[in-house]
Amino acid sequence: MKNHSTLTPFFFLFFIFHHITVATSTPPYIAVDNINLDCGSFGNSKATDERDWIGDIGSKYGPIEENNKPNSSEASVESIPYSTARLSYSQFTYVFPVTPGPKFVRLYFYSAAYSGFTKSKDFFTVKAGSFTLLRNFSASIHTEKYFVREFCINVEKNKKLNLTFIPFTSGSISYYAFINGIEVVSMPMDYMYYTSSSSIIEGKVPVYVGQAPQFYVNYSMALEMVYRLNIGGSSILPVQDSGMFRQWSEGRTDYLLSDGVNPRDPSLKLKYSKIPKYIAPDTVYQSAASMGPNRTRNSMSNLTWGLPVETGFNYLVRLHFCEIEPLIHVSGTREFTIYIDYQLAEETADVILWADDNDTPYYKDYVVMIQNKGEDSHTLAIDLHPRTDATLRDAILNGVEVFKLSDLSGNLAGLNMVPPPMDQQPALAANKSNTKKTRFIAIGSSVGFLVVAALVCFKVLCKLKKTELYGSYHPLAKWWRWSRPDPYKREFSRRTASSLPGELCRYFSLNEIKTATNNFNEDLIVGVGGFGNVYKGLIEQGNITVAIKRMKQESRQGAHEFMTEIEMLSKLRHVHLVSLIGYCNDEGEMILVYEYMANGTLGHHLYDTPNDPLTWKQRLQICIGAARGLHYLHTCTKHPIIHRDVKTTNILLDEKWVSKVSDFGLSKMGLDNTAVSTLVKGTWGYLDPDYVRRQQLTEKSDVYSFGVVMFEVLCARKALNQGLQEEERNLACWARKCIKRGTISEIIDPYLMNKIAAGCFKVYVELAKSCVSDHGIERPKMNDVMEKLEFALELQEYAEATTKDTDSEVVSFRVATTNGAPWYNSIYHGQMLESTSGTELSTISTELSYPGLDSVTISITSRDDSSGTKNNSS
Ligand SMILES: *[C@@H]1O[C@H](CO)[C@@H](O)[C@H](O)[C@H]1NC(C)=O
Ligand SMILES: *[C@@H]1O[C@H](CO)[C@@H](O)[C@H](O)[C@H]1NC(C)=O
Ligand SMILES: *[C@@H]1O[C@H](CO)[C@@H](O)[C@H](O)[C@H]1NC(C)=O
Ligand SMILES: *[C@@H]1O[C@H](CO)[C@@H](O)[C@H](O)[C@H]1NC(C)=O
Ligand SMILES: *[C@@H]1O[C@H](CO)[C@@H](O)[C@H](O)[C@H]1NC(C)=O
Ligand SMILES: *[C@@H]1O[C@H](CO)[C@@H](O)[C@H](O)[C@H]1NC(C)=O
Ligand SMILES: *[C@@H]1O[C@H](CO)[C@@H](O)[C@H](O)[C@H]1NC(C)=O
Repeated sequence: MKNHSTLTPFFFLFFIFHHITVATSTPPYIAVDNINLDCGSFGNSKATDERDWIGDIGSKYGPIEENNKPNSSEASVESIPYSTARLSYSQFTYVFPVTPGPKFVRLYFYSAAYSGFTKSKDFFTVKAGSFTLLRNFSASIHTEKYFVREFCINVEKNKKLNLTFIPFTSGSISYYAFINGIEVVSMPMDYMYYTSSSSIIEGKVPVYVGQAPQFYVNYSMALEMVYRLNIGGSSILPVQDSGMFRQWSEGRTDYLLSDGVNPRDPSLKLKYSKIPKYIAPDTVYQSAASMGPNRTRNSMSNLTWGLPVETGFNYLVRLHFCEIEPLIHVSGTREFTIYIDYQLAEETADVILWADDNDTPYYKDYVVMIQNKGEDSHTLAIDLHPRTDATLRDAILNGVEVFKLSDLSGNLAGLNMVPPPMDQQPALAANKSNTKKTRFIAIGSSVGFLVVAALVCFKVLCKLKKTELYGSYHPLAKWWRWSRPDPYKREFSRRTASSLPGELCRYFSLNEIKTATNNFNEDLIVGVGGFGNVYKGLIEQGNITVAIKRMKQESRQGAHEFMTEIEMLSKLRHVHLVSLIGYCNDEGEMILVYEYMANGTLGHHLYDTPNDPLTWKQRLQICIGAARGLHYLHTCTKHPIIHRDVKTTNILLDEKWVSKVSDFGLSKMGLDNTAVSTLVKGTWGYLDPDYVRRQQLTEKSDVYSFGVVMFEVLCARKALNQGLQEEERNLACWARKCIKRGTISEIIDPYLMNKIAAGCFKVYVELAKSCVSDHGIERPKMNDVMEKLEFALELQEYAEATTKDTDSEVVSFRVATTNGAPWYNSIYHGQMLESTSGTELSTISTELSYPGLDSVTISITSRDDSSGTKNNSS
């Protein structure tokens, strides 16, 4: 007999083992093929959930590459399979010899900086045999760093499952493809999404909502899982699934658009008499959502879910039902009507009638076509409406799965994500955006061929204009940074060098300040805050304009503290921070002298402004600048400096529209604008809810406020507007609601309608949404915000460049004789085409051939009156 000391660990181990076996023992289904390939790694490893992964290095699955050897690299995360990746600039293929039949294929991505590969330069297509699973896909666009995309593919007899990763190629720029992990898991032949012969025999065929009584999900289709929700319950890990390693998400209230209650009984013994046990794990059927006890209210409303989906595809919607209310045994008790995408899908849904009893799981399949009516995204609505003739006026739903079905060409990739522009493309966009849409070319007496001449002129003009334009082009786009030194930085250092030789921060006497502000002349006040007034002042014999912030008596505090903070603030130097030039603490005054920002606050340019609205690109550039400034604050010292009061009135714009963050560090000094919140520091509407709840300030609080700023910039609405209906008052909440409902594009600044490129909009909105996530931990870092915004700008510029190539570069020109009389009184339209051999003008409306005319005078007039004339003989 063993003694106690050896027994205890043994028991402990036994306990753990027993526990694990209970959790995973005898799943209802055992997959024949269950391959977990950890790409870019070697040998076997175990993930935290105890599943085994094998490294692809030296494995029998490949990869087979085209040219160079795909590179493997490590990411800075521990968890398998995300810690390593397979990357390549050329195409590579994995070949999986598997048994015939339907399979789950899961692709794991972790978007990170991998050594030797520029982050965000991943753009690729993934094909499985003839199916296109992902096209022009970039993992770095996603807000989530880690994610899995799940597909269902049927593998025919004597065929292998080939997965090919094809990087996008575009001119000189190299994009790469990458993958962190691949999972291939068999699924049961029957009832698992595909319409098998058993389903047909038993009549378990999906209804084609609004189209036909039946829709066969044929094996010739590939499916992509879009939603898999455990309604009313929590998330279910792959190892807790019924043997297929599916991940079920928490049936979050995010998607539930109506009020509901969540009946739940985790100890419920389920009777699988109508469907196989593997359809879904028990936990799915043990929880549900229903409407609650108010019959009056229920009969006037729907239990509604809204699931945003891409348009242009058929979707398979599987609804899981199980009557878990012990008192409901009789059919006709809880009857409801099901609408999918506002169309009648099921006149009378009665779970007891379908399943014969309560505690008996059941499912129903529907296919619905979501047409593309010009919008990329659509909110698929699932509405359950209680039937008034039922005893109980209520509805119930336990789980939802939504799959996108491939189209006739085997394609699942919808929205064609545009790749980030080639290095020179943004430059092209910048030049072109300043050329006018319409030009008139007057042609003198002897008209021959005007093509070449017109172009020469045109180019000269472009060049001339470009030179002056570059002065005002923003320095933030990457190409600019690479190609030129930052002019603003230069200017600033010149300015500071002259006024503050060798010092970071200059001391001003009160007299100097009085001279600068004309003895605090009220006419010079440019801003008023809770802390005091801001004056526009002139220093250095009137040569330098500055902003002078004079603290009110009651905002002033200890002189020592003031000096320490000045020292700290003066060390913070960044192009996107408003620089502190000097200070004055004579006679108990507390005065700060800043660089002057000629264009005022960002807030001032968003609403109630007499100025022209900012263009979308300007707004993006302003956001990028502010994000950079904040990133600098968060990372420039060992302990992050938290701004605490990020808002559109604290983002200032200089004479060249470069954005700079102001008032940083002031809140820490207690010098902040206290017209705001007394409970916590900050401004209502921008306040991080996590901070309010826990009173703990982190950089992520700034990220939250920045997200609000992003929505403000997009919608031109104030962060908090008490004049609106309650639902719309708080912009962050309202925007989130609109995103959920798929109506975000309806609340944007009307001026921006149709001016934002689809890809750019998507990236921007997702980013802003993630910034205002409820919990700090879910929000991105300022660094990520910066990168995503830059990427959004690239997408915008790229889109503008490409549309300019097709429509806007159409020029109109008039053909005239020397005396000015029109030649056939015609205006001709042509298109400027840029190619490697030069630029050509091609006509659209007519052939340009004028026999007998051999000398041309062309004058090009653009709307802003610059014109060029060219004589050409040929
Ligand atoms: C992977 O990329 C790094 C950096 O470009 C390079 O040094 C290394 O040789 C590459 N490895 C392979 C196997 O190509
Ligand atoms: C898969 O790839 C292998 C090797 O590239 C090829 O021989 C085979 O024909 C492919 N199979 C399918 C089904 O595409
Ligand atoms: C599926 O296959 C059946 C039989 O081959 C065919 O009649 C049906 O049109 C197909 N369904 C779809 C949606 O392609
Ligand atoms: C039920 O709903 C109706 C309509 O919304 C409401 O007027 C009534 O007060 C509710 N009854 C209860 C008991 O909450
Ligand atoms: C429930 O939803 C359907 C479909 O969207 C709609 O036609 C119906 O008007 C809704 N009923 C109520 C009471 O909101
Ligand atoms: C990827 O996007 C580019 C630019 O939008 C497009 O020209 C190309 O055809 C796309 N590639 C595929 C495979 O769709
Ligand atoms: C646009 O400007 C860039 C930067 O000065 C220049 O290199 C490029 O050639 C210009 N492109 C055109 C089409 O004029």
